[in-house]
Amino acid sequence: MKDLFSVEGKTVLVTGGSRGIGLMIARGFVAAGAHVIISSRKADVCEAVATELSTHGRCEAIPADLGRDEGVQHLAAAVQDRVDKLDVLVNNAGATWGAPLEDYPESAFDKLWAVNVKSVFRLTTALLPALRAAAGPEDPARVINIGSIDGIRVPLMEVYAYSATKAAVHMLTRSLAHQLAGEQITVNAIAPGPFESKMMAFALDDPGSRSAIEAQVPLGRIGRPEDMAGTAIYLASRAGAYLTGAVIPVDGGLTTHG
Ligand SMILES: NC(=O)c1ccc[n+]([C@@H]2O[C@H](COP(=O)([O-])OP(=O)(O)OC[C@H]3O[C@@H](n4cnc5c(N)ncnc54)[C@H](OP(=O)(O)O)[C@@H]3O)[C@@H](O)[C@H]2O)c1
Repeated sequence: MKDLFSVEGKTVLVTGGSRGIGLMIARGFVAAGAHVIISSRKADVCEAVATELSTHGRCEAIPADLGRDEGVQHLAAAVQDRVDKLDVLVNNAGATWGAPLEDYPESAFDKLWAVNVKSVFRLTTALLPALRAAAGPEDPARVINIGSIDGIRVPLMEVYAYSATKAAVHMLTRSLAHQLAGEQITVNAIAPGPFESKMMAFALDDPGSRSAIEAQVPLGRIGRPEDMAGTAIYLASRAGAYLTGAVIPVDGGLTTHG
């Protein structure tokens, strides 16, 4: 049982790894002895975060814009230039948009579909050679998609395109899991509840709305970095080898409200 949750020596790509949930996951994998590549649009921030994480282990940056297919293909090619195999792909980069129903912009649907859904599909398929090189019956390659509880139950906020794309991420996870299981590649999703990040700053920075959100969570608190890193590490380790096509809420029980 000693190494059941080990990810030591695995090669891991975390998109959107420069801050928020992606950084929680990247930091966890670096501390656990993995070789981590992070990616995000802002090259200077991405490089600075990789340099900081490198003081605790092995981390490098490959900046890319996943809102454009050229960016997705550039990232996949650059990763496969640097490593022979990819053990774990974490599709975390994402964006949201909130607006009242009749003001909700058409552009939000196109923007969020591109980053939240299309890039997950296109990056996963472009990285298949590297994932296949890592895959084996004892230790499958792993794809971990970051969905959302907003794709499971109707959110309180008016984020129409966002919640629709997150439901799409969950379904895409199941389709890819079904298709890739025969190649020893597992595909699972994590559906986070509220976690500290730039995306959630509008709701969590204000003490009043923060405590209102905490009060809705059955476990009574916002998610911690260890909650997110722990689930990702479990999915990437030998302990998570028999799981595929699952959507795991990491939400303090929020989705038990239905
Ligand atoms: N925080 C929560 O409570 C929560 C709850 C449920 C689900 N989620 C999901 O968790 C994921 C991370 O969200 P977060 O809350 O950590 O958000 P965040 O703080 O806004 O971080 C988003 C990350 O994605 C990168 N990114 C955004 N657009 C990109 C693009 N077009 N190409 C490449 N990278 C891009 C950002 O870096 P750049 O801006 O430099 O590109 C950043 O690293 C998202 O998929 C989100 O839907 C979050």
